[in-house]
Amino acid sequence: MSFEVSIILFGGGRMGSAMLRGWIASGIGPGAIHVMTPRPDEALLGLAAECGVRVNPPLTARAGQAVVLAVKPQRVAEIADQIATIATPDTLIVSVMAGKTIADLRMLFPEVPSFVRAMPNLPAAVGSGMTVAVADCSAGQRLLAERLLSSTGAFEWLDDEALMDAATGVSGSGPAYLFYIADCLTSAGIAAGLPAEVAERLARATVAGAGAMLAPDGPSAEQLRRDVTSPNGTTQAGLEILTADGVLMGLVEQTVAAAAMRARELAAA
Ligand SMILES: NC(=O)c1ccc[n+]([C@@H]2O[C@H](COP(=O)([O-])OP(=O)(O)OC[C@H]3O[C@@H](n4cnc5c(N)ncnc54)[C@H](OP(=O)(O)O)[C@@H]3O)[C@@H](O)[C@H]2O)c1
Repeated sequence: MSFEVSIILFGGGRMGSAMLRGWIASGIGPGAIHVMTPRPDEALLGLAAECGVRVNPPLTARAGQAVVLAVKPQRVAEIADQIATIATPDTLIVSVMAGKTIADLRMLFPEVPSFVRAMPNLPAAVGSGMTVAVADCSAGQRLLAERLLSSTGAFEWLDDEALMDAATGVSGSGPAYLFYIADCLTSAGIAAGLPAEVAERLARATVAGAGAMLAPDGPSAEQLRRDVTSPNGTTQAGLEILTADGVLMGLVEQTVAAAAMRARELAAA
């Protein structure tokens, strides 16, 4: 379904490009999208040319109902003047910058009335992201932000901005934990006698396949685990080690807590 909204995307890097691809795939009219990025790469230019997205055009007032910030937090001050010249009372800023709170955004962009702070994750690049967000804007702008942010995968509103740190610890940083589990499975496969390349292929496909079974509307992780565990079978033998004394559960709790703490520190810096 086609959907026309004027969007200015600042930052055409990994996350910005992933969102751009998601918007186009989800039917947002490319003619209304402007991408501002100092050195657009060939993939971005190719996508833009194919879809009619404008890259680095002169910006005029009212060019953006939504201004999406996908630059590194340390570069955001560079665009404050540009945004000041295009902001209107209807402008919504949607920021995916890690650690920049809505209060920070209000200080950076005093002319802008409405903000959404979002935290996507890396699988957004393959359309399987998990984005959480908090809003300080109108109901209509919430719908617009949800439309933009859900084009790269699953999406969830949080009621309280303080929860962004815990969400960062789970879904923001979570893909890296699972990549590490895949590495552990590879090493364990090698230790059990498999050739290294075979162990890696098995581990990758297993983590990817198990992840695909965790579709939002599917059975719970616990149910899936039970379904695959025959009494006294091989999986039970393995799980008895993995779950013994809740050691791994405790480690994962500490992992998420450490990431959430770091997110808090970065936001306060
Ligand atoms: N990647 C993720 O998984 C992820 C997850 C959650 C949140 N985020 C957030 O998303 C944001 C972008 O991250 P990323 O991984 O996409 O970084 P990235 O690949 O480095 O992309 C940032 C882009 O911003 C461009 N840029 C720099 N200065 C600019 C300016 N003044 N105006 C417009 N564009 C400018 C950069 O261009 P040049 O390279 O030419 O300087 C680059 O293309 C960050 O704030 C990050 O916290 C990313």
